[in-house]
Amino acid sequence: MLKTEGLGYWYQDKDQPLFQGIDLEFDAGQSYAILGHSGSGKTTFLSLIAGLDQPKEGDIKLNERSLKQIGLTNFRRHDVSIVFQAYNLFTYMSPLNNLLTAMAITDAAHAGDKAYARQVLSDLGISTDLAERNVQHLSGGQQQRVAIARTMCCDAKLVVADEPTGNLDEDNTKEVIQQFQKIAHEQGKCVIIVTHEPDVASQCDHQFRLENKQFVELA
Ligand SMILES: Nc1ncnc2c1ncn2[C@@H]1O[C@H](COP(=O)(O)OP(=O)(O)OP(=O)(O)O)[C@@H](O)[C@H]1O
Ligand SMILES: [Mg+2]
Repeated sequence: MLKTEGLGYWYQDKDQPLFQGIDLEFDAGQSYAILGHSGSGKTTFLSLIAGLDQPKEGDIKLNERSLKQIGLTNFRRHDVSIVFQAYNLFTYMSPLNNLLTAMAITDAAHAGDKAYARQVLSDLGISTDLAERNVQHLSGGQQQRVAIARTMCCDAKLVVADEPTGNLDEDNTKEVIQQFQKIAHEQGKCVIIVTHEPDVASQCDHQFRLENKQFVELA
Protein backbone atom coordinates (compact mmCIF):
# COMPACT_ATOMS: atom_id res chain seq x y z
CA MET A 1 0.00 0.00 0.00
CA LEU A 2 2.74 2.47 1.00
CA LYS A 3 6.13 2.24 -0.64
CA THR A 4 9.36 4.17 -0.27
CA GLU A 5 11.72 4.18 -3.23
CA GLY A 6 15.33 5.22 -2.75
CA LEU A 7 14.19 7.46 0.07
CA GLY A 8 16.80 9.76 1.56
CA TYR A 9 16.74 12.68 3.96
CA TRP A 10 19.18 15.10 5.61
CA TYR A 11 18.68 18.38 7.41
CA GLN A 12 21.73 20.56 6.66
CA ASP A 13 24.52 18.45 5.29
CA LYS A 14 23.91 16.33 2.21
CA ASP A 15 26.99 14.30 3.13
CA GLN A 16 25.45 13.39 6.49
CA PRO A 17 22.07 11.91 5.59
CA LEU A 18 19.93 10.41 8.36
CA PHE A 19 18.99 7.62 5.96
CA GLN A 20 19.47 6.97 2.29
CA GLY A 21 18.38 4.52 -0.41
CA ILE A 22 15.45 3.25 1.64
CA ASP A 23 13.17 0.82 -0.22
CA LEU A 24 10.37 -0.37 2.04
CA GLU A 25 6.85 -1.63 1.58
CA PHE A 26 4.05 -1.38 4.13
CA ASP A 27 0.85 -3.36 3.57
CA ALA A 28 -2.75 -2.77 4.59
CA GLY A 29 -3.97 -4.93 7.48
CA GLN A 30 -0.49 -5.11 9.02
CA SER A 31 1.27 -3.34 11.88
CA TYR A 32 4.91 -2.22 11.79
CA ALA A 33 7.22 -1.07 14.57
CA ILE A 34 10.24 1.12 14.00
CA LEU A 35 12.99 1.04 16.63
CA GLY A 36 16.27 2.91 16.71
CA HIS A 37 18.56 5.09 18.83
CA SER A 38 17.51 8.55 19.85
CA GLY A 39 18.44 10.91 17.03
CA SER A 40 18.62 8.18 14.38
CA GLY A 41 15.82 9.78 12.34
CA LYS A 42 12.65 7.88 13.28
CA THR A 43 10.46 10.95 13.74
CA THR A 44 11.90 12.43 10.56
CA PHE A 45 10.98 9.26 8.65
CA LEU A 46 7.42 9.37 10.04
CA SER A 47 7.06 13.01 9.09
CA LEU A 48 7.91 12.09 5.49
CA ILE A 49 5.45 9.20 5.24
CA ALA A 50 2.82 11.35 6.97
CA GLY A 51 3.24 14.00 4.28
CA LEU A 52 4.44 16.65 6.74
CA ASP A 53 7.72 17.14 4.91
CA GLN A 54 9.18 16.24 1.51
CA PRO A 55 11.96 13.73 0.81
CA LYS A 56 15.35 15.09 -0.21
CA GLU A 57 15.87 12.02 -2.38
CA GLY A 58 13.63 9.30 -3.77
CA ASP A 59 9.90 8.99 -3.58
CA ILE A 60 6.98 7.80 -1.42
CA LYS A 61 4.02 6.16 -3.12
CA LEU A 62 0.54 5.34 -1.89
CA ASN A 63 -1.02 2.64 -4.05
CA GLU A 64 1.53 3.40 -6.78
CA ARG A 65 0.83 7.14 -6.79
CA SER A 66 3.55 9.50 -5.63
CA LEU A 67 2.60 11.72 -2.67
CA LYS A 68 3.73 14.63 -4.84
CA GLN A 69 1.13 13.62 -7.40
CA ILE A 70 -1.58 13.19 -4.75
CA GLY A 71 -0.57 16.52 -3.21
CA LEU A 72 0.59 16.68 0.42
CA THR A 73 -2.43 18.64 1.67
CA ASN A 74 -4.83 16.25 0.04
CA PHE A 75 -2.83 13.24 1.31
CA ARG A 76 -2.81 14.56 4.89
CA ARG A 77 -6.53 15.22 4.85
CA HIS A 78 -7.76 11.94 3.41
CA ASP A 79 -5.10 9.27 3.50
CA VAL A 80 -3.18 9.47 6.76
CA SER A 81 -4.08 9.63 10.42
CA ILE A 82 -1.38 10.77 12.83
CA VAL A 83 -1.01 9.98 16.53
CA PHE A 84 1.84 12.02 17.96
CA GLN A 85 3.08 11.93 21.51
CA ALA A 86 1.68 15.39 22.09
CA TYR A 87 -1.70 13.99 21.00
CA ASN A 88 -2.60 16.81 18.54
CA LEU A 89 -6.10 17.13 19.89
CA PHE A 90 -8.17 20.29 19.66
CA THR A 91 -7.54 21.36 23.24
CA TYR A 92 -10.57 23.61 23.63
CA MET A 93 -13.01 20.82 22.71
CA SER A 94 -14.43 17.71 24.33
CA PRO A 95 -13.29 14.25 23.16
CA LEU A 96 -16.64 13.83 21.44
CA ASN A 97 -16.26 17.07 19.49
CA ASN A 98 -12.66 16.19 18.63
CA LEU A 99 -13.92 13.05 16.91
CA LEU A 100 -16.87 14.76 15.23
CA THR A 101 -14.64 17.57 13.95
CA ALA A 102 -12.01 15.18 12.62
CA MET A 103 -14.67 13.12 10.85
CA ALA A 104 -16.21 16.26 9.33
CA ILE A 105 -12.88 17.70 8.15
CA THR A 106 -11.87 14.43 6.50
CA ASP A 107 -15.33 13.63 5.02
CA ALA A 108 -15.35 10.30 6.88
CA ALA A 109 -18.14 7.81 6.22
CA HIS A 110 -19.34 8.23 9.83
CA ALA A 111 -19.24 12.06 9.73
CA GLY A 112 -21.99 13.48 11.93
CA ASP A 113 -22.66 10.16 13.65
CA LYS A 114 -22.55 11.06 17.35
CA ALA A 115 -23.65 7.65 18.57
CA TYR A 116 -20.81 6.02 16.65
CA ALA A 117 -18.22 8.45 18.07
CA ARG A 118 -19.54 7.83 21.60
CA GLN A 119 -19.30 4.07 21.08
CA VAL A 120 -15.69 4.22 19.85
CA LEU A 121 -14.74 6.38 22.85
CA SER A 122 -16.52 4.06 25.23
CA ASP A 123 -14.76 1.04 23.68
CA LEU A 124 -11.50 2.80 24.55
CA GLY A 125 -12.56 3.39 28.14
CA ILE A 126 -13.60 7.04 27.74
CA SER A 127 -16.89 7.22 29.65
CA THR A 128 -19.88 9.31 28.54
CA ASP A 129 -18.96 11.78 31.26
CA LEU A 130 -15.33 12.13 30.10
CA ALA A 131 -16.43 12.33 26.46
CA GLU A 132 -18.14 15.67 27.13
CA ARG A 133 -15.33 17.30 29.15
CA ASN A 134 -12.67 19.63 27.80
CA VAL A 135 -9.78 17.37 26.75
CA GLN A 136 -7.38 19.49 28.80
CA HIS A 137 -9.03 18.03 31.89
CA LEU A 138 -8.16 14.48 30.86
CA SER A 139 -5.02 12.60 31.88
CA GLY A 140 -2.20 11.96 29.40
CA GLY A 141 -3.29 8.35 28.95
CA GLN A 142 -6.90 9.37 28.40
CA GLN A 143 -5.89 11.98 25.83
CA GLN A 144 -3.78 9.37 24.07
CA ARG A 145 -6.83 7.11 23.84
CA VAL A 146 -8.90 9.95 22.40
CA ALA A 147 -6.24 10.39 19.70
CA ILE A 148 -6.52 6.67 18.92
CA ALA A 149 -10.33 6.87 18.89
CA ARG A 150 -10.04 9.66 16.35
CA THR A 151 -7.89 7.43 14.15
CA MET A 152 -10.50 4.67 14.39
CA CYS A 153 -13.35 7.01 13.44
CA CYS A 154 -11.66 8.41 10.36
CA ASP A 155 -11.26 6.49 7.12
CA ALA A 156 -7.56 7.12 6.42
CA LYS A 157 -5.98 3.77 5.55
CA LEU A 158 -2.54 4.75 6.82
CA VAL A 159 -2.01 5.30 10.55
CA VAL A 160 1.31 6.59 11.86
CA ALA A 161 2.14 6.98 15.53
CA ASP A 162 5.24 8.47 17.17
CA GLU A 163 5.94 6.85 20.55
CA PRO A 164 2.24 6.44 21.31
CA THR A 165 2.98 4.66 24.58
CA GLY A 166 5.81 6.98 25.64
CA ASN A 167 4.12 8.22 28.78
CA LEU A 168 1.66 5.47 29.57
CA ASP A 169 1.75 2.95 32.39
CA GLU A 170 1.94 -0.77 31.71
CA ASP A 171 -1.82 -1.38 31.60
CA ASN A 172 -2.49 1.57 29.31
CA THR A 173 0.40 0.53 27.06
CA LYS A 174 -1.08 -2.95 26.67
CA GLU A 175 -4.51 -1.52 25.93
CA VAL A 176 -3.18 0.97 23.37
CA ILE A 177 -1.19 -1.71 21.50
CA GLN A 178 -4.27 -3.93 21.40
CA GLN A 179 -6.22 -1.05 19.85
CA PHE A 180 -3.54 -0.52 17.21
CA GLN A 181 -3.65 -4.23 16.39
CA LYS A 182 -7.43 -3.92 16.05
CA ILE A 183 -7.01 -0.95 13.70
CA ALA A 184 -4.67 -3.06 11.54
CA HIS A 185 -6.44 -6.42 11.67
CA GLU A 186 -10.11 -5.46 11.98
CA GLN A 187 -10.18 -2.16 10.13
CA GLY A 188 -7.63 -3.35 7.57
CA LYS A 189 -5.44 -0.28 7.94
CA CYS A 190 -1.67 -0.03 7.72
CA VAL A 191 -0.27 0.92 11.14
CA ILE A 192 3.30 2.22 11.56
CA ILE A 193 4.51 2.88 15.10
CA VAL A 194 7.79 4.37 16.29
CA THR A 195 8.70 3.11 19.73
CA HIS A 196 11.64 2.81 22.12
CA GLU A 197 10.10 -0.18 23.83
CA PRO A 198 11.10 -3.62 22.49
CA ASP A 199 8.05 -5.11 24.26
CA VAL A 200 5.75 -2.84 22.29
CA ALA A 201 7.60 -3.51 19.03
CA SER A 202 7.44 -7.27 19.47
CA GLN A 203 3.63 -7.14 19.53
CA CYS A 204 3.54 -5.64 16.04
CA ASP A 205 3.45 -7.88 12.96
CA HIS A 206 6.79 -6.56 11.65
CA GLN A 207 9.76 -4.82 13.26
CA PHE A 208 12.43 -2.59 11.76
CA ARG A 209 15.45 -0.98 13.36
CA LEU A 210 16.87 2.23 11.93
CA GLU A 211 20.64 1.97 12.24
CA ASN A 212 23.60 3.10 10.15
CA LYS A 213 21.22 5.03 7.89
CA GLN A 214 19.34 1.85 6.92
CA PHE A 215 16.17 0.07 8.01
CA VAL A 216 16.94 -3.49 9.03
CA GLU A 217 14.05 -5.93 9.40
CA LEU A 218 14.23 -7.88 12.64
CA ALA A 219 13.34 -11.54 12.58
N1 LIG B 1 14.31 20.66 12.15
C1 LIG B 1 15.52 20.13 12.31
N2 LIG B 1 16.62 20.79 11.87
C2 LIG B 1 17.86 20.25 12.01
N3 LIG B 1 18.09 19.06 12.57
C3 LIG B 1 17.05 18.37 13.02
C4 LIG B 1 15.71 18.87 12.92
N4 LIG B 1 14.86 17.94 13.46
C5 LIG B 1 15.64 16.93 13.88
N5 LIG B 1 16.95 17.18 13.63
C6 LIG B 1 18.08 16.27 13.92
O1 LIG B 1 17.95 15.10 13.12
C7 LIG B 1 18.28 13.93 13.86
C8 LIG B 1 17.09 12.96 13.82
O2 LIG B 1 16.00 13.51 14.54
P1 LIG B 1 14.67 12.70 14.80
O3 LIG B 1 13.78 13.55 15.59
O4 LIG B 1 14.16 12.18 13.50
O5 LIG B 1 15.24 11.47 15.66
P2 LIG B 1 14.47 10.30 16.43
O6 LIG B 1 15.04 9.02 15.94
O7 LIG B 1 13.01 10.49 16.31
O8 LIG B 1 14.95 10.53 17.93
P3 LIG B 1 14.14 10.28 19.31
O9 LIG B 1 14.16 8.80 19.53
O10 LIG B 1 14.97 10.99 20.33
O11 LIG B 1 12.78 10.86 19.17
C9 LIG B 1 18.65 14.42 15.25
O12 LIG B 1 20.05 14.47 15.32
C10 LIG B 1 18.04 15.79 15.34
O13 LIG B 1 18.81 16.61 16.19
MG1 LIG C 1 11.50 10.98 17.71
